[in-house]
Amino acid sequence: VRVSVYGAGQAGSAVAEILRSRGVDVAGPFGRDEREAALGSGADVVLVATTSFLAEIAADLRTAIEAGSNVLTTAEEAAYPWTVDLDLADELDALARDRGVTVLGAGLNPGFAFDALVLTVLGATARPRSLRVERVVDLSGFGPTVLHRIGVGHTLDAFADGVASGAITGHIGFPQSMRIVADRFGRTIERIDREIEPTVARREHVARALTVATGETAGFEQRYTAIVGGEPWFRARFVGHVDPAAVGLTTRDEVHVDDDPPIHMTIAPGLSSQSASAAVLANSIGRLVAAPAGWLTVADLPPAVPV
Ligand SMILES: NC(=O)c1ccc[n+]([C@@H]2O[C@H](COP(=O)([O-])OP(=O)(O)OC[C@H]3O[C@@H](n4cnc5c(N)ncnc54)[C@H](OP(=O)(O)O)[C@@H]3O)[C@@H](O)[C@H]2O)c1
Repeated sequence: VRVSVYGAGQAGSAVAEILRSRGVDVAGPFGRDEREAALGSGADVVLVATTSFLAEIAADLRTAIEAGSNVLTTAEEAAYPWTVDLDLADELDALARDRGVTVLGAGLNPGFAFDALVLTVLGATARPRSLRVERVVDLSGFGPTVLHRIGVGHTLDAFADGVASGAITGHIGFPQSMRIVADRFGRTIERIDREIEPTVARREHVARALTVATGETAGFEQRYTAIVGGEPWFRARFVGHVDPAAVGLTTRDEVHVDDDPPIHMTIAPGLSSQSASAAVLANSIGRLVAAPAGWLTVADLPPAVPV
């Protein structure tokens, strides 16, 4: 299998390193100035690890699909693109089917923690009534661009302004994960309520990519609730901090299912945003190459496995 990696940041570099260590033929990671080499080579799989947004990767996906490559992308919106831009998602899905290739948005979150893992747990339930999935995450390993965009290192006023304007997004991908699970379950989500609250630093916190001063945002809490049949059906909570241990937080991933009996699964310490994301992506190459053509979600595919 030949893999080409577009995006020479953390995710692209880490996936390339894992695949090379397994003897996979990897080209890249390529930066912006080597776009053609990255996307147009006709490699079996092109990994697009650049941004979070469908609109910003659409042209790159089109180029790679037209060159005959399967496309794997870290863009959170691509995990379930139809609610972001139905026409664009349908157009790229049709193009992929026409060229006989597969497109998949994957990673840890979305792509695993709030969707694939949840579906696996639901497989051991008989009549699940509702779900609650929570993560407490160490944000210190993210790069500066991602940290600023998700809401770290801002004054409270700048945080509020950024959320209002859309420049600060918090972690992206919860609606995508919820719709992946709902689709697989044959449920229709009526609406998704969302909240985000900043966590203010009471002392300086030094992360790899930036230092958070006292009074600035050191993290945030996000809560998403998907409503089905007029009732909360899937609650997602994400608590992120650049220095969780210093403020008494322990990283963890939890899935609660309201069934008889209830299920409560905990992964502790929690999955690493960097290494676990890179692993899910590297472990997705085989299932992507073997998959039918079109734009798929992780619910359409077997689990990612480290081969
Ligand atoms: N689903 C998941 O679980 C998951 C996992 C990992 C990452 N992600 C997402 O994937 C993206 C990449 O993550 P990362 O950690 O690798 O970020 P990163 O370290 O900031 O690297 C991003 C790289 O992509 C380049 N880039 C940004 N926008 C681009 C564009 N429009 N066209 C071409 N190149 C572009 C950047 O170059 P410049 O420096 O020149 O801007 C940088 O080299 C982020 O949006 C992140 O949120 C999702």
